[in-house]
Amino acid sequence: MLIAHLSDLHIGATPATVTRLEQVIAYLQRLRQAPDAILVTGDLADHGAEGEYLIVAGLRRLGAPLLVLPGNHDDRATMRRVLLGAEPSPEPLNQVVHVGDAVFALCDSSVPGHAEGLLSDATIGWLESVLDEAGERPSFVCCHHPPVPVGKPAADAVKQVGAWRLAALLESRPSVVALCCGHIHSAAVGAFAGKPVLAAPGVESTMLLPWEPPDRPDPGPALAFHLFEDGRLTTHYRAAVSAG
Ligand SMILES: [Fe+2]
Ligand SMILES: [Fe+2]
Repeated sequence: MLIAHLSDLHIGATPATVTRLEQVIAYLQRLRQAPDAILVTGDLADHGAEGEYLIVAGLRRLGAPLLVLPGNHDDRATMRRVLLGAEPSPEPLNQVVHVGDAVFALCDSSVPGHAEGLLSDATIGWLESVLDEAGERPSFVCCHHPPVPVGKPAADAVKQVGAWRLAALLESRPSVVALCCGHIHSAAVGAFAGKPVLAAPGVESTMLLPWEPPDRPDPGPALAFHLFEDGRLTTHYRAAVSAG
């Protein structure tokens, strides 16, 4: 199973966000093996506007199942209506999607009106039932906000809070392979509750780390590939570069 994991498109933040998404699509169109799914872990739209989601929907041209979840910049109701063709409910947008034998629990960690994340009581309860149902099948827990600090104070101030409940849930679940997140605009790997935390880089921009020079050039849009074979996960990070 090959998953292309994108995050933080922020369509509408600047005109360049559309160009950068097109660059990623062009890169993915030239792969020699089509991904089994495209996972986008939030901040798809910068203002949660319908027109922004219609641009995000361009990812459907790739033909792979499109797995999306909301970030703090998204609007649940508009995202539901435009991208999922569902009723525009303001309730947490949690979805379970099966890709081959694997289960993807797409959790809504957004809190309307706030930049930090939280898995609500309802979402934690939902996730528990999804993992119960999944049994021994390999499961990927996906949400926008990483539950761990990453070494950048501005990002750590808006991470997922109350994550001890998620930790308690995951520690008893050997079938959970990894947590897939976004939000920090950085290709980063951490650990939480004995699971890898795999953050996709931001398509819109790359976070400047405190120890990097402030005039560091923009590295361009990038993504993660999660390869899951024979029960083993390998993650590769790649710049979405086009042929010269
Ligand atoms: Fe973001
Ligand atoms: Fe975010």
